Amino acid sequence: MTHWWRHAAIYQIYVRSFADGNGDGTGDLAGVRSRLPYLRELGVDALWFNPWYTSPMADGGYDVADYRDIDPLFGSLAEAEQLITEAHGHGLRVLVDLVPNHCSDQHAWFRAALAAGPGAPERERFWFVPGRGGSGELPPNDWVSYFGGSAWTRVTEADGSAGPWYLHMFAPEQPDLNWEHPEVRAEFEDILRFWLDRGVDGFRIDVAHGLAKKPGLPDVGPDPDVTDLPYQDCDEVHDIYRSWRKILDSYDGDRTFVGEVWLPAAEQTARYLRPDELHSAFNFDFLCCPWDAAALRGVVDSTFAGHAPVGAPPTWVLSNHDTIRHVTRYGREDTSFDMGDKRLLDPSDPVLGRRRARAAALLTLSLPGGVYVYQGDELGLPEVQDLPDALIQDPTFERSGGVDRGRDGCRIPLPWQSGGPSLGFSPPGAKAPWLPQPADWAELSASAQEADPDSFLTLYRAALALRRERLTSLGETLTWVDAGRDTVCFDRGDAFRCLVNLGDPVALPPDARVLMASAELDEPGVLPRDTAVWLER
Ligand code: NOJ
Repeated sequence: MTHWWRHAAIYQIYVRSFADGNGDGTGDLAGVRSRLPYLRELGVDALWFNPWYTSPMADGGYDVADYRDIDPLFGSLAEAEQLITEAHGHGLRVLVDLVPNHCSDQHAWFRAALAAGPGAPERERFWFVPGRGGSGELPPNDWVSYFGGSAWTRVTEADGSAGPWYLHMFAPEQPDLNWEHPEVRAEFEDILRFWLDRGVDGFRIDVAHGLAKKPGLPDVGPDPDVTDLPYQDCDEVHDIYRSWRKILDSYDGDRTFVGEVWLPAAEQTARYLRPDELHSAFNFDFLCCPWDAAALRGVVDSTFAGHAPVGAPPTWVLSNHDTIRHVTRYGREDTSFDMGDKRLLDPSDPVLGRRRARAAALLTLSLPGGVYVYQGDELGLPEVQDLPDALIQDPTFERSGGVDRGRDGCRIPLPWQSGGPSLGFSPPGAKAPWLPQPADWAELSASAQEADPDSFLTLYRAALALRRERLTSLGETLTWVDAGRDTVCFDRGDAFRCLVNLGDPVALPPDARVLMASAELDEPGVLPRDTAVWLER
């Protein structure tokens, strides 16, 4: 039997922007439940939910205050249980997001740590460290938060005195947990069981490379080796996943872990995918790759080479809730992405971006391995680049002094219908959506695209159906075909070929039948630029 997660199409749901059931302008579990038939018809195999737990939403739910409950904005625990059951009833598996590197500053543990005062054992579950300088006025080391600024915030004690500093690799509202503490380990093992007992099919692990820190928390220094940073990919992290894997494997039902492992070297990532650790990881090298044939072929090759030694399946992903939507990226002069880059208002050609995004869809959906579809990819949604400053909620905007526009532009509430104040995101009479939708998204709505044979939605539905019917049984390898310098072309099995052309028009093989094309083939037998076809040979 092949494990489902080796070739699954997994749809990512950013709950607060997917569908609003109760009319408060924020997406919720009721909204998701009402759209389960849409997801089944789309043809995906599983759903990954971004964090839905109790949270003050300082970082869109990645600041968890209670890992065993649902935020009231989204619904209740009973409703999550119902949703899991209903999703299963539609043949959809469910992955939930586990956030183990940090919790919210409103989590009971952190509140207790602050309240307990200097030197208290409650503080040992976090990283409370005295500052440097004559009176501890300088942070304990030079680490910089992924969101900008120092990774340390100084505590003001109950009596008003300045205390030690605590570590937060993200926002100050997200204190890092100390994974050397046995209670932290025990707590997360229990949280895993809590959700496994409720029937989830697996977990997406947030910042999977970050949990362990180098002993002594040494400075990074001025010219660090990026493959050897003291706050990521420390060896001890692997013990955590080995113990989690034992727990997961003790449950029935072929459950899975996917890691957000974002590291510079493929060998580093592969270590997380050893047979007794995680099952798969997001392929950020592929996501970041520019729209360039040689670069794409290279990243596909390096992905297979990196995964082969550990026997893990590759995954393919074009966009997620942290990155610039690829419709917009691919329409820019620089089509690459780098998480470290600031999100700026770079111009993008929408026609070009859409054309390439359609071709990229056929590429990712036909490569062997797992594939992720971020909500709205199937509608061809672009990044919203012109949100007014006053509406931006992503903490990266403020922490970068407004230089980085942040990630809200890829988190705009989905358009479901062509009319109405929220394009069907909320029920009639609801509050305005938590982020405004551009007026021209009416034509991108799911209902507008449903009956249009040339729409993105139609393309995704047809491709996902064909993938399920014919491709997943074709094994886990591909054979490269040389179809020209500017092409990405490969065979799977004896009868299937994917050909993507990024350059001047190329001839199609004369004996091949076109199963699907990402754009019209104006001249018979010729594949235009920025177009992909699936062929039966
Ligand atoms: C990665 C998540 O995808 C991102 O949205 C979040 O801000 C950080 N981890 C911190 O949890």
